[in-house]
Amino acid sequence: MSSSVSQSPKKITAEMLRKRKAANGSPKIVATTAYDYTFARLVDDLVDIILVGDSLGMVIQGNPDTLTVKIEDMVYHSRAVAQGAQQAHVVADMPFMSFQPSVEEALKNAGKLIAEGRADSVKLEGGVTILPMVEKLVAFGIPVLGHVGLTPQSVRGFGGYKIQGRTDSAKEAILQDALALDDAGVFGIVLEGIPSGLAKEITERVSCPTIGIGAGPDCDGQVLVSQDLLGMNPEFKPRFVKAFVDMSGLVREAVSNYGKEVKEGKFPSSEHSFQ
Ligand code: KIV
Repeated sequence: MSSSVSQSPKKITAEMLRKRKAANGSPKIVATTAYDYTFARLVDDLVDIILVGDSLGMVIQGNPDTLTVKIEDMVYHSRAVAQGAQQAHVVADMPFMSFQPSVEEALKNAGKLIAEGRADSVKLEGGVTILPMVEKLVAFGIPVLGHVGLTPQSVRGFGGYKIQGRTDSAKEAILQDALALDDAGVFGIVLEGIPSGLAKEITERVSCPTIGIGAGPDCDGQVLVSQDLLGMNPEFKPRFVKAFVDMSGLVREAVSNYGKEVKEGKFPSSEHSFQ
């Protein structure tokens, strides 16, 4: 195989991430989402994981949830992101009903994300109920990131985006999901929308790193949707989100200045024109 098509030597692998348990003194894992080449290239050396999340159904496609996202959408965006990520580990989400129907469907669709989408690994929402799928993917050499708690693909079952694991039995079920995924060989587990105490307990009991979102400060890493951390959607202000810049303000100011200069005949000037 020619070296021009081999994996970048700087690439962060699933195995490297698996060893990044913060309790062992490793720095926390930093993750954000990306859906295109330009953004992936911009953040490639700033994060450990770029997640091509099925959140693209909401932030890219404008739907109220992630349920309409198709495997073809994920392959398309994953491939674009992978072109820009020389270093960061690219995880592609398996969308709703691309893995739940059967182990065969899961294997076929995970294969598409790896082979056509050029993802480094895949993420599946769920715990004990999807263990056969997770075990099969791992057995076939496809690294898997788990995802438990407030899993958005189950929004209908939850009756909305509600914090999970508030009762003793719900806590126990999420803990058992995480322990089972850990045993099945996932390289990490996203803990979403659960109380901090439960996230701490899971983090202490699993051997792989946990990556929190709305799960408090005790996980081994953190993930935020890029639009949220950039303040692109100022009306969306759940407690777990922190905007690290007012990007919506910056974008609006830039586009407004551009429009003003075009209308006033100031842009393009001779500096931006050809003789
Ligand atoms: O789809 C996504 O972006 C996600 C994160 C919120 C973890 O699954």
